[in-house]
Amino acid sequence: IPVDEFDLVIFGATGDLANRKILPGLYRRVLAGQIPQGSQIIGAARSDMDAEAFRAQVRGAIEEHVNPAKIVPESVAEFLAMLDYVVIDAKGEGGWDDLKAKVRPDVINAFYFSVAPSLFGDLAERLHKRGIAGPDARIVVEKPFGRDLTSAKALNKALADHFDETQIYRIDHYLGKETVQNLMAVRFANILFEPLWNAQYVDHVQITVAETVGVGGRGSYYDKSGAMRDMVQNHMMQLLCLIAMEPPYHFDPDAVRDEKLKVIRALQSVAPNDMVRGQYLAKGDEPGYLADSEDPESKTESYIALKCHIANWRWTGTPFYLRTGKRLRARTSEIAITFKEPPHSIFDEAEGDWRENVLVIRLQPNEGMNLKMMIKEPGPGGMRLVQVPLDMSFAEALGEEADITDAYERLIMDVIRGNQTLFMRGDEVEAAWAWTDPIIEGWEARGDRPQPYDSGTSGPDDALMLMHRDGRRWREIR
Ligand code: BG6
Repeated sequence: IPVDEFDLVIFGATGDLANRKILPGLYRRVLAGQIPQGSQIIGAARSDMDAEAFRAQVRGAIEEHVNPAKIVPESVAEFLAMLDYVVIDAKGEGGWDDLKAKVRPDVINAFYFSVAPSLFGDLAERLHKRGIAGPDARIVVEKPFGRDLTSAKALNKALADHFDETQIYRIDHYLGKETVQNLMAVRFANILFEPLWNAQYVDHVQITVAETVGVGGRGSYYDKSGAMRDMVQNHMMQLLCLIAMEPPYHFDPDAVRDEKLKVIRALQSVAPNDMVRGQYLAKGDEPGYLADSEDPESKTESYIALKCHIANWRWTGTPFYLRTGKRLRARTSEIAITFKEPPHSIFDEAEGDWRENVLVIRLQPNEGMNLKMMIKEPGPGGMRLVQVPLDMSFAEALGEEADITDAYERLIMDVIRGNQTLFMRGDEVEAAWAWTDPIIEGWEARGDRPQPYDSGTSGPDDALMLMHRDGRRWREIR
């Protein structure tokens, strides 16, 4: 469905995110026929170049980051014709008059801050005071949204001084992933799961986001961040919220975000022995974390596993185990909900390999769902039980229609439509920092060092113990 005509200004348009995700994503939306002709995409950055040079850069980004089968010359030309460029000085005066002359007040305006958070306030102030962004304009900001509660509050204030919360779109690209949205469909469009979705029937939940990449190239950012700030405070917290929240009264931005906020507020602090931090070692030619981060003494974690509890009626008694790390065995993100065993078995143990039901929601790769069920082993061997998966790959189930759109392009289209459901509200981000801050302060005060782990494995051995001692097991990363 096409969106209405818009002018989108991308600050930081020459940066890595713009080239890898935002601009190729917008091109794919043009290809899909979703962006009306006449819309403008205006790059704004410090680099001194003209619109022609910007178009050449974007052409390069498309060639590098879009599947060659989807590069259609007419659509590329149509997209490049929408582009314009302004040299801008975020903290000074240069370029703002130019920008004002280009942004049309009679179409939807969106301003994407793909820049360091330290510039958010400067950009917001200039857009507002110079009358470039009106009361209907949308401001899109990227993570990291601060590095603790104090800095997040300062960012929220810098934006709130000039714009209303209904105009601010804080991106967490995990919320734009197909399966993450499907999580809500699975929970709230089916009657099957919801009655079982509580501590009485759910033994535990595991959320895994495993990556094979290291932090090479972005070591200076990452070393000040670490897995807790980079992944848990935002992406994993959002996944946890969508699993744990109460049904919102409507699929509406504030209804959904109110419910997520309640989950974050109900999260208990994590005891030191309920978490394991790790740091990857070198393997072959691949440097270890300490070389990637360029600080041979760094105590930053590239891996974290933790057990947390949500103190409310629905979840007391069901632990949530979270783990994420770099340079692990495989790139795989999934949520696994393990249900309790039936209260009484009518089958003898010898009659099979009894296991619990597990619902696995695969975020990537191969988006889909898998429900592990017990059935009778086929054949004449008597009543023997086996566990089999009811497996649904979205791509296979929906065939051609499974348009697994990249998270960024979906979210940008939501900005244009004015739909904030998949964006984080200011109070949510602050509540998430309020939960992570004391945990991080705790390990900093103790001077904890992360445990080294071999690259290409599933992380430090102690992380296995985190579950073993509860009589549970992590799912394999593969
Ligand atoms: C980013 C983190 O937000 O998410 C990165 O800063 C991480 O460190 C990335 O690699 C993971 O995103 P995806 O979509 O590849 O799972």
